Amino acid sequence: MEGFLKKAKDLLTPALVVHTPIVAERAEGLYVEGTDGRRYIDFSSGLAVTNTGHNHPRVVRAIREQAEALIHSGCIFHYRPLLDLCERLKEITPPGIEMFFFSNAGAEVVEGAIKLARYATKRQGIIAFTGAFHGRTMGAASLTTSSIRYRRRYPPFLPSVYHSPYPYCYRCYFGQAPDTCGMECYLHIERMLKHIIPPEEVAAIIMEPILGEGGYVVPPKGFLKNLRDLCSRWGILLVLDEVQSGMGRTGKWFACEHFDIVPDIMTIAKGIASGMPLSALAGRREIMERWDPGAHGTTFGGNPISCAAAIATIDVIREEGLLERAERVGSFALERLEGMKRTHPSIGDVRGRGLMIGIEFVKGKKEPDPERLKRIINRCLERGLILIECGVNKNIIRLAPPLIVGEEEMARALSILEEAIKEG
Ligand SMILES: Cc1ncc(COP(=O)(O)O)c(C=O)c1O
Repeated sequence: MEGFLKKAKDLLTPALVVHTPIVAERAEGLYVEGTDGRRYIDFSSGLAVTNTGHNHPRVVRAIREQAEALIHSGCIFHYRPLLDLCERLKEITPPGIEMFFFSNAGAEVVEGAIKLARYATKRQGIIAFTGAFHGRTMGAASLTTSSIRYRRRYPPFLPSVYHSPYPYCYRCYFGQAPDTCGMECYLHIERMLKHIIPPEEVAAIIMEPILGEGGYVVPPKGFLKNLRDLCSRWGILLVLDEVQSGMGRTGKWFACEHFDIVPDIMTIAKGIASGMPLSALAGRREIMERWDPGAHGTTFGGNPISCAAAIATIDVIREEGLLERAERVGSFALERLEGMKRTHPSIGDVRGRGLMIGIEFVKGKKEPDPERLKRIINRCLERGLILIECGVNKNIIRLAPPLIVGEEEMARALSILEEAIKEG
């Protein structure tokens, strides 16, 4: 393992951060096995991707069968798995979402969303949220503000991109508490449209319905409703980035269902194909049809093997009842974590939906405590539990296990976490 890590340091750019020193040999379900023979329980799901668990047998079979039949098209010919996947996605996305474009990664469909919104509306302005993560390509990085390290030395970014604070109630940007909240975070956007950019020049507002990389933050329901109304009033497209929150992670197919709103465009990736590279830009027909032939395209997007893996993924989530399970096991975890919060003052906040749960560590008066978090994560890893952090201050644990996790494994993982917290 030492030799491997030395070689990796020699050959891979330091820009690429690998969260753990584990050298993975194989993985199955909740578990990853290292070359040292140790088994770890993966509560990161490989960055919120392996929602059906690592190497689900049905997904593996679909990949194998498709690889034997057809690996590549490059938009030269049609193939069945692509349209079968469209039909599956139409069934699980909110009503009105009817057309699709496929790419390989999350950032790539965020790029697609920016281009589609500008093309379809003939407007330039994009409003995004301070604290959000949308990817690292130049267009997506222009929207991303979850940490300054994603922006340093990269400007100039895309012009006509504006940011408004993400509704993060535990650390309200406007200094409000729940009893004084006047939804200032929403009013700020209305103010922007009076002072900074007129609404008729805004193509899209893009938002993560639940903040991922930025801290696993759940916004108040009213915020998203207001945003939906505002967009409809001014012909602004509401783009929801469901790259991390989608595909059952929150106990619903998509997080927007928790807020009873339907976006005009949505971006889907991560969990869509259980680890095969695939992303989808999904939109209302009337908007997608405004994109002229050749205005966007791809060589690898919608790869047949990835599509086959995605179809199997959707079938597994459905047939194994993983949405219900995510909701049930997520509620179980939240309840237990609330109890831990009462006994451990270092836990400042616990929040989430389904199996997208954030645990924020603080000291004193809500001061972020990344040092403690690092110690806790390292101790958990020593005990065989993989956890990863998020948030601008890296003081939040993102609990994102595969949706196949049961109460028993969740209880075991939370006991390991509590032991690590007790050690200080
Ligand atoms: C909400 C969101 N959007 C976009 C991305 C970018 O996805 P990718 O890393 O696949 O480009 C991520 C990745 O973490 C994400 O969480």
